[in-house]
Amino acid sequence: MRQSLPPLLWETSRPGKRATWFSECDVPKTEIPSGLIRDDAARPNLPELSELDVVRHFTQLSQTNYAIDTTFYPLGSCTMKYNPKLNEAVASMRGFAAHHPLAPVAASQGSLAVLYELQEQIKEIAGFAAASLQPAAGAQGELAGVLMIRAYHRDRGDTKRTRILIPDSAHGTNPATVTMSGFTAVEIPSDREGNVDLEALRRECDDTVAGLMITNPNTLGLFESRIEEVISAVHDCGGLVYGDGANMNAILGVVRPGDLGIDVMHFNLHKTFSTPHGGGGPGAGPVGVGEKLRPFLPGPIVERTGDAFCFHTPEKTIGRLKAFHGNFGMLLRAFTYILVHGPEGLRAIADNAVLNANYLKKLIEETYPVRYRRPCMHEFVATPPDADGVHTMDIAKRLLDYGFHAPTVYFPLIVKEALMIEPTESEGRETLELFAEALLQIAREASETPETVTSAPVTTPVSRLDEVRAARHPVLRYRSRS
Ligand SMILES: Cc1ncc(COP(=O)(O)O)c(C=O)c1O
Repeated sequence: MRQSLPPLLWETSRPGKRATWFSECDVPKTEIPSGLIRDDAARPNLPELSELDVVRHFTQLSQTNYAIDTTFYPLGSCTMKYNPKLNEAVASMRGFAAHHPLAPVAASQGSLAVLYELQEQIKEIAGFAAASLQPAAGAQGELAGVLMIRAYHRDRGDTKRTRILIPDSAHGTNPATVTMSGFTAVEIPSDREGNVDLEALRRECDDTVAGLMITNPNTLGLFESRIEEVISAVHDCGGLVYGDGANMNAILGVVRPGDLGIDVMHFNLHKTFSTPHGGGGPGAGPVGVGEKLRPFLPGPIVERTGDAFCFHTPEKTIGRLKAFHGNFGMLLRAFTYILVHGPEGLRAIADNAVLNANYLKKLIEETYPVRYRRPCMHEFVATPPDADGVHTMDIAKRLLDYGFHAPTVYFPLIVKEALMIEPTESEGRETLELFAEALLQIAREASETPETVTSAPVTTPVSRLDEVRAARHPVLRYRSRS
């Protein structure tokens, strides 16, 4: 049965309804400054409701949301893992939450210690010489990294380098970053195993290459098996290597990108260290760098002298990316998550992320073929079962009827009809089996009663939307239905 949406507040509004009654004003009007007397004619036009009406409305609205706290969220590449409540408890501690970003450094030593320790943890976890916590998202970390690469070449007077190489499986933010930084993006194909095609890469490597942006594990959920040769090819022609760290949860405590030779990498704190994701709050995308890029880091960063902490801006910095000191609340949550896990716990995150993805892949791959038939890392890219007229979008929509959030669809672009599934390390075996059973049931429907799948969803408040129209021509103003 289709779930219904609560009516709009405007629709339940009735003249005269209200939540609060104030007693008659006992101050004579003549004693009230004229500017404070309400002009009834200028009252804002707001819905009139009781307190209970308002509470029910917003509670019902909140219950129509998908959220990681209520539902399995296998959105590939996004790592929608559980955000432990302890992170929230620490971020709400008065000493942190009420601390003003303009407070003097001497009165901010505790908060600066947190930032300093987090920088140290990031360096240690990923094998880098220095880190900046400034960027406000993974994509902004990318921008910081590529601007640092640009600054590095310019600083050496090497202005010929105008191209950045990007594998064809890359996330769209990579070429966007390259273009915003004034470089030209050059696409490198993947080989038959799902790795970067090394020969194609070598053909492009010359003295016009500023660098390579590479995601490892890549967006097919595969570890680049020749990553060291890939990095050497770029270094040998004088370029630098940017690591897109979005998939770091698959290799935490196993591989350190800095040790592989990666020169700069962003962390997506929401993916790797469980801070709220996307609409759930402001983001943070710290960057770690090797020695070469240390002078170019965005500032300020936190330094320690003895027991005292202070801000420092590196001499050749690319500049500031964010007001104040980054998104402190997010940094605090990530710091908590890292401390709570400790080294063994971080390693267990990677082990469980990879185990869960391989288990789920095994449960469905006979029915939902996976193009690259090798063990995956933390996610994998499947394709729909062979059924006439049933596409990836139909499977995704039908999953909603089974109470699951859909996986990422039609990405990465190099797999036709891609269903990109990332169970994350948070989920238990029972959930994975229920999800696999739903997918297998949908596959049976696709072959026996395809219209059940192609007309889904039937239980959600709205059915199939014209998503292109909704994006291109959004109606953002309330229009009365009467
Ligand atoms: C591989 C990859 N790179 C970069 C990004 C961009 O990160 P953010 O969403 O934090 O800007 C994402 C986000 O999903 C991603 O999956």
